[in-house]
Amino acid sequence: MRKNKKSGRLGTFLKGSIPDFAAAIAANTVCVLCTTVLPLLISFAIDSVLGDKPVSKGFKLFSDALGGISFIKDNIWVIAAAIAVIAFINALFTFINNYYNSNGNQKMVLRMRNSLFTHVQRLPLSRHSENSTGDIIQRCTSDIWNLSNFISNQMLQLFRIIITIVISVVFMFLMNPALAAISSALIVVITGISMAFRIVMHKRFRMCDEQEGVLSACAQENITGVRVVRAFGRERYERERFEKQNEYYTGLWVKTGKVTALYWSSTEFMNTLQMLILLVAGTVMCINGTLTSGGFVAFLSYNALLIAPLRELGRIISHMSRAGVALGRIDEVLTQEAEDCGAYEGKLSGDVVFENVSFGYEAGKPVLENINLTVKEGEVLGVLGGTGSGKSTLAYLLSRLYEPVSGNIYIGGKNIKEIPLATLRGNIGLVLQDGYVYSRSVGENIALAADGASQADIESAAKTACVHDSIEGFVNGYGTVVGERGVTLSGGQKQRVALSRTLLRNTPYFVLDDSLSAVDTETDTAIRANLKNKFGNSTVIIISHRVTTVMDADNIIVLDGGKIAESGTSEQLLARGGIYSRIYELQAALPEELKGGGV
Ligand SMILES: Nc1ncnc2c1ncn2[C@@H]1O[C@H](COP(=O)(O)OP(=O)(O)OP(=O)(O)O)[C@@H](O)[C@H]1O
Ligand SMILES: [Mg+2]
Repeated sequence: MRKNKKSGRLGTFLKGSIPDFAAAIAANTVCVLCTTVLPLLISFAIDSVLGDKPVSKGFKLFSDALGGISFIKDNIWVIAAAIAVIAFINALFTFINNYYNSNGNQKMVLRMRNSLFTHVQRLPLSRHSENSTGDIIQRCTSDIWNLSNFISNQMLQLFRIIITIVISVVFMFLMNPALAAISSALIVVITGISMAFRIVMHKRFRMCDEQEGVLSACAQENITGVRVVRAFGRERYERERFEKQNEYYTGLWVKTGKVTALYWSSTEFMNTLQMLILLVAGTVMCINGTLTSGGFVAFLSYNALLIAPLRELGRIISHMSRAGVALGRIDEVLTQEAEDCGAYEGKLSGDVVFENVSFGYEAGKPVLENINLTVKEGEVLGVLGGTGSGKSTLAYLLSRLYEPVSGNIYIGGKNIKEIPLATLRGNIGLVLQDGYVYSRSVGENIALAADGASQADIESAAKTACVHDSIEGFVNGYGTVVGERGVTLSGGQKQRVALSRTLLRNTPYFVLDDSLSAVDTETDTAIRANLKNKFGNSTVIIISHRVTTVMDADNIIVLDGGKIAESGTSEQLLARGGIYSRIYELQAALPEELKGGGV
């Protein structure tokens, strides 16, 4: 079942390249025919041109076309010219073979990369949490390379080998059935060894590929987290961790190399043994007069033609294993169910309602329990809570980045499960806690989610988020490239660029997940004043661990350990004297204490 699925996947990838590969195989067949005709020509030259054996039926036509056997005997160069013509045809078709092969392969790689990338993009967030980035990258690069390498090099070579073996064996049996039987016995033995080799190699390649995934994940994590590694002086620890993984990986390849060496040495031995038997048997036949010397030379040439591809067969079969492993790993990603985003169906309106919503990232570890809340249309909800209390998770559930384990969420009375993702996410302006910026210009980073946004729109959003002046201060203004090679933004600037990006979309619902945590209180106040005008009639959820950020909200909930501990307006919560008022006093007292200490 699994195998069928995998070969079905290979069929999908091959589609579109089949005309190229068919042309390559046809050209390959011509090349093989050219190679196999040469020994016959040599046998003809030895037996009928140099010797006096009557010309066989097949060569009669050939010799007549060239002016008859006596003409050829006087003009021996004709044989050389015939060999040169065959060599030229062989070269021409080798070119055609390589051209179409490479063409078909590149088109196939293009399709594989695109479909893998598109699929990874559409995988639910939960899948991304399960798979490490390094492993996914390895599947998109190394595994694709292994598969394409097999298809473009080994698979076509496999065709060539099969054609060569079939033609050689047929010619050998036509020339001398007894000798051909000795020679063919080797095919059975080497094929048996190759099959055993394939089983061992498949296991080894799977282990090597999986370890390569671990190794690239380790390297990728370290490069991404380079600041943490440096800041904590963890270079040595990380280096040792990488070296350990690397040593294990190298060890796996060394073991794989041993199996390969065993294969080549055993087949080499078989090969020599077979040659020896053939030489003895052939010589005896020549002495007895049952075989001509020309026929013997031609037979040995065919045997040589047969031996090399037979031994190659093992190598190709081992590559086939590797390609099988790669295809399996690519297939694993492609069979993971992708999100169906549907179509954007226009603006949503109405209240946001959480009804008995419970959720956990892992079974048995609840993160949110029985959440019941209503955010009235056009109102602002403040969500306050300690770290790990489930605030961000609440935002993820609303955008359906994760699905609730139980309970339902409604927008305007409609269960969000029934709203196409494109519509839902197109209506919710979510500012994530870790505002991610791409290695593009600041302007492009802001315009990311709003196609066709004008410079004036971009600047207006940046002004609302109080980041316009900072951007103007950069050497290239909005054209300044951020990220690895450009100016790296500060934490607060990054958050404000992410905020501007969301504001530009002008959605009816906004969720700000601790989006101003890295911004100083003064700027935070200024931004909130700007947002009040900007939000207008939008329904807003502001998540924060800072009381001042949520205190103006129409309603506030306090999350504690995944449950709503308190809810009400700031005044009501203060009057209640619970968690909210304690946090309020703690945060309000801090500057006072500092002031007091200064005096
Ligand atoms: N992808 C994940 N897989 C497993 N557990 C997770 C995942 N993301 C978050 N958690 C866990 O879920 C709990 C709630 O996390 P969440 O991010 O919602 O908290 P938060 O209130 O936003 O915290 P903070 O104020 O630090 O941002 C935490 O205990 C966290 O460890
Ligand atoms: Mg959070």
